Amino acid sequence: MVTIDVKGCASFADAASLKAYTAKALEAFDVLESEKGAGNDFLGWKHLPSEIPAEMLNDIDTICKNWKAKGVDLVIAIGIGGSYLGAKCVIEALSHNFAKQLKKKDAPEVVFAGNNLSEEYLAELMDLAAERNVAAIVISKSGTTTEPAVAFRIVKQYIEERYGKADAASRIVAITDAKKGALKTLSTQEGYKTFVVPDNVGGRFSVLTPVGLLPIAAAGLDVKGLIEGALEAEKALAVKSEENPAVVYAAVRNMLHSQCGKSIEILVNYNPKLTYVAEWWKQLYGESEGKDGKGIFPASVNNTADLHSMGQFIQEGSRVMFETVLHVEKAQRNVVIGTDEQNLDQLNFLAGKHVEHCNHMAELGTRLAHIDGGVPQISICMEKVDAKNLGSLLYFFEFACGISAYTLGVNPFNQPGVEAYKKNMFALLEKPGYEEATKAIKERI
Ligand code: PA5
Repeated sequence: MVTIDVKGCASFADAASLKAYTAKALEAFDVLESEKGAGNDFLGWKHLPSEIPAEMLNDIDTICKNWKAKGVDLVIAIGIGGSYLGAKCVIEALSHNFAKQLKKKDAPEVVFAGNNLSEEYLAELMDLAAERNVAAIVISKSGTTTEPAVAFRIVKQYIEERYGKADAASRIVAITDAKKGALKTLSTQEGYKTFVVPDNVGGRFSVLTPVGLLPIAAAGLDVKGLIEGALEAEKALAVKSEENPAVVYAAVRNMLHSQCGKSIEILVNYNPKLTYVAEWWKQLYGESEGKDGKGIFPASVNNTADLHSMGQFIQEGSRVMFETVLHVEKAQRNVVIGTDEQNLDQLNFLAGKHVEHCNHMAELGTRLAHIDGGVPQISICMEKVDAKNLGSLLYFFEFACGISAYTLGVNPFNQPGVEAYKKNMFALLEKPGYEEATKAIKERI
């Protein structure tokens, strides 16, 4: 289970302020747990770890085995936002850094589409598909989102032309609403295996539904470990306490925002495998809190690389941010720095040391420097980057997000602002039904 360390905020706020914000976060905890707060029809994610149906996991397993039997070596997962980032972050975190380049492949490669409208991207995806044995997972809760719909039309036609309609139906799985949406209608008509995104689980909270679990399983990763870790967090975080890490995180980030004027939170990692955890986290907190003119802007850096690009600004630029560092206690692979007789690179002072030791010292040194520079520090600590710890981390962030958004005074579970660009895009693309909007928007440009 993850732990939290907020000692790096001590010099930025007094004990009384922390106590006051802890009280607010505990009230918000009650709102979340009573299930009577705003958006309470979207709380299905809270008990996903303890209520995952065994039958659904068996179905996922069967699909993966069927695809293996067919020799599938490329799975195209099509989706955007919450229908993509959970799977992407887990796959990146749990895969070998060089999985694509290594010759030995234990499972199909999972690539993503439908998360952009780049023509080049889709054309080049088709170049890759032509060299591989292909299956696809199309994910859209609403079943109507444009980006995945466009990508799926192209991938579907490709698979049908290449393998024939009957075989295509066994290579395509849809994950969508139980009853409504174009994707549901299409899947029923084409006879695709479908999984349901529960009505009461929003996209950004759906990583532990088939939305996340099928692509993760298709990549050959440890789904059971992920659920086990999330279950551990579900149990631990349900306990009302001032020490509950989710309460602490919600209290401290709200305090830094409202009292210390920090409007940007930077999620910091020191392991490239965690890059997409930050992308997932940005959606989770950005969409949950950024509304009604409120919210902390979620940003991220990948250290130590970004210390050589963003480090200057964080150290000395405008003092608007605090950092939440993902601290990983131990590396799962070991590389020890050797001795060199000539010592021309002058690195013998590090001889015999693990590279991760240097990484930890970089992290600690940065942390202290940033505190000195006026950047408060929160540390979220995990033992290692494995499935179980990752499951705990993701559930922790979800649960803390609910508490934090209620502490801030917004509905954590809606995203009304996401619609604005869609209306303009449809008007510009002259979608039937948007005639008036098309006329109005053309007058603006
Ligand atoms: O969190 C959310 O609800 C959104 O980011 C959605 O996941 C995203 O817009 C994709 O929607 P859909 O799954 O309906 O295609």
